[in-house]
This record gives sequence, structure tokens and C-alpha cells, in this order.
Amino acid sequence: MKMIKLLSSSLHLFLLLSVFIFNGVYTICSSRNMLQAKKVTCPLNFQFMNYTIILSRCKGPSYPRHECCAAFKKFACPYKQYVNDVSTDCLALMLSNIRLYGRYPVGMFGNTCLQGRQHVECP
Ligand SMILES: *[C@@H]1O[C@H](CO)[C@@H](O)[C@H](O)[C@H]1NC(C)=O
Repeated sequence: MKMIKLLSSSLHLFLLLSVFIFNGVYTICSSRNMLQAKKVTCPLNFQFMNYTIILSRCKGPSYPRHECCAAFKKFACPYKQYVNDVSTDCLALMLSNIRLYGRYPVGMFGNTCLQGRQHVECP
């Protein structure tokens, strides 16, 4: 009888502790996710922009790096205030729209034309 009571109370303690620990881990994980995922929605509408300058100057199959990045910057620099603000999702939106419009290889501009992978260097 005494044994069962001891067992039951340690089980109780164990459950309490598990819930406590699980909650703690969960809180840490979810707050980290929020830090990473929470970006301000871009106020610019990249879906309906004029991408002619890039599409006309940056063509496959070779996609010459110099021409492509120059055209990319010509397009992007007027919006540098937004695309270089990492608290917004403007850069990601712009990159994915350029890729869609021009059917460019995945990651091409992001990998070759950005400084530090998330910064458009403008004059
Ligand atoms: C798009 O931009 C190009 C020059 O970059 C211009 O010639 C063309 O007229 C523009 N198209 C529209 C629909 O504004």
C-alpha cells in the first residue's frame, strides 16, 4: 500500500515535471520560429511591376552575370529602402517575382547579385 502511494506520487511529480519541461521547450521553439518568420508584409506590389529592364537585358542560356546584375540593380535600387529592410519580406517577394516573370533559374539573382545574400548594393 505504501509502495503504491509512493509510486503514485512520484508518477504525479514526473507528469508535472514533464508538462513543465515540455511547455518550456515548446515556448522556446515557438518564440524562435516567430522571430524568424515574423516579417512585415511588403507595402510594395511586386506582382504588377514592369520587369522589362531585367527581361530584356538578362537572357539565357548563359545569363551573363555582369549584365544580369546591372539590370537587376537598375530595377531594384529605386526600391532599396524596402528591399534592404530585412524586417520586411520585400526582397523575397521581389526575387520570386523576377524569377517567375523571367523564368530564371532558382536563386540566380539572390546568389549572384546580392551583397551578403540579403542586401542590394546601390550607388
Ligand atoms: C516598361 O519599362 C520599359 C523600359 O524599362 C518601357 O519601355 C515600357 O514602356 C514599360 N512598359 C509599361 C507597360 O509601362
